[in-house]
Amino acid sequence: MSQDIKVPDIGDFDAVEIIEVLVSAGDTVEAEQALLVLESDKATMEVPSPLAGTLSEVKVKVGDKVAQGDVIAVLDSADQQAQTSESASQPAAPAQSEDATATQKDSDQAPAKPAPQADKAPAPTPAPSSASTPGEDIPHASPSVRLFARELGVDLRQVEGQGPKGRILREDVQQFVKTRLATPASGPAGQGLPSMPHIDFSKFGETEVRELPRIRKLSASNLHRNWLVVPHVTQFESADITELEAFRKQESARGELKLTLLPFVIKAVCLALRRYPEFNSSLAPDGSALIIKKYCHVGFAADTPNGLVVPVIRDADRKSVSELAAEASELAAAARDGKLSPAQMQGGCFSISSLGGIGGSHFTPIVNAPEVAILGVSRARTEAVWDGQTFQPRLMLPLSLSYDHRVIDGAAAARFAVALSELLSDIRRLCL
Ligand code: COA
Repeated sequence: MSQDIKVPDIGDFDAVEIIEVLVSAGDTVEAEQALLVLESDKATMEVPSPLAGTLSEVKVKVGDKVAQGDVIAVLDSADQQAQTSESASQPAAPAQSEDATATQKDSDQAPAKPAPQADKAPAPTPAPSSASTPGEDIPHASPSVRLFARELGVDLRQVEGQGPKGRILREDVQQFVKTRLATPASGPAGQGLPSMPHIDFSKFGETEVRELPRIRKLSASNLHRNWLVVPHVTQFESADITELEAFRKQESARGELKLTLLPFVIKAVCLALRRYPEFNSSLAPDGSALIIKKYCHVGFAADTPNGLVVPVIRDADRKSVSELAAEASELAAAARDGKLSPAQMQGGCFSISSLGGIGGSHFTPIVNAPEVAILGVSRARTEAVWDGQTFQPRLMLPLSLSYDHRVIDGAAAARFAVALSELLSDIRRLCL
């Protein structure tokens, strides 16, 4: 017997769009099986079949707008019991078995459950999706797309929907999988990392897209790799540079050469590297050995309009503080003008990142692998330091030593940091 399947009560909507038709004419369906998906302003909802049977006709297509009572399909029902039930108010047929008697007893105490009818379809099932709140945790997609994504193991929060109101379509999931398969893995450490979701920020306000300069893209990729590959620890220390600063100012005042703190720090680093050679090393790629360097090339991070670059002073251990000052100043100028050659940025053994000219107290620099340690220098401040009898105003320089814990133990790092502090606190030691 043929029966019309109609749109059930869907609330106060009179023109709700069909976004998916999940069946076709000739399909055999179960009772409660989803036939199509509607989308209102607030949500998507599935319309289930009220009965089991075969669909002789599907009268709607994707994009049609429907309201309560519209016929969506014609069903040849196989459910004889349902077909003979005339109305929702009629009680169920008397039961014959003991079990059924129990059911009947229950039904004496409670209103009878109406038998299903094709034109009294069950209520639509809201799907967990919200078109009005894009960007919330639940992505906007129909149930069948959710199922499809689940089958493929795709996290829908990472998929950008190209459908109306940002709804994720089946094609979006397919495209996402294709793109992922075509993207080479970024190496062992990058595998299995969750990627950032694609978010259209213009949904939330005005935006502007600025292409990243080439240097920034390159350094971003290196920093990311180093952050992932190197187990970082940062050791903090401070150095009393009261005397150093007095000497630096006195020498600068002579006008022959502008001396900043940086060349003194480079000099101290060279001496500490000589004392603790594992800081002047690189881990062999298979992790089985340390490659100790007998040379001492020191890099320093330079802030340029195009991003961060690290020029390298070669054989820094063989140069005086004033030679280091002159060379650092030349390299920094070349970096700012974008005139550093690749050779001037290669071969570093250890890096220094000095933010002291800008400010800040401490920070945790990222090791410039394959180097195994980096020194962060922050802004010196006058602090009250106890000399055993009284507090003295001393100029204290904050130091942050980040290191690769695969190569360097915490105790070695503390020794290295203390050595730096002592060298900078008494610059006579820099001459030794
Ligand atoms: N504490 C107090 N003052 C400091 C200081 C410190 N730790 N470091 C520098 N200064 C002072 C300098 O003495 C100078 O003052 P003066 O003109 O009165 O003598 C002023 O700050 C500017 O110094 P700066 O230009 O920073 O010179 P520098 O030789 O110390 O540093 C560079 C040179 C290239 C390192 C620096 O210009 C730079 O680019 N720093 C940024 C590095 C960076 O971005 N690191 C981040 C990596 S993640």
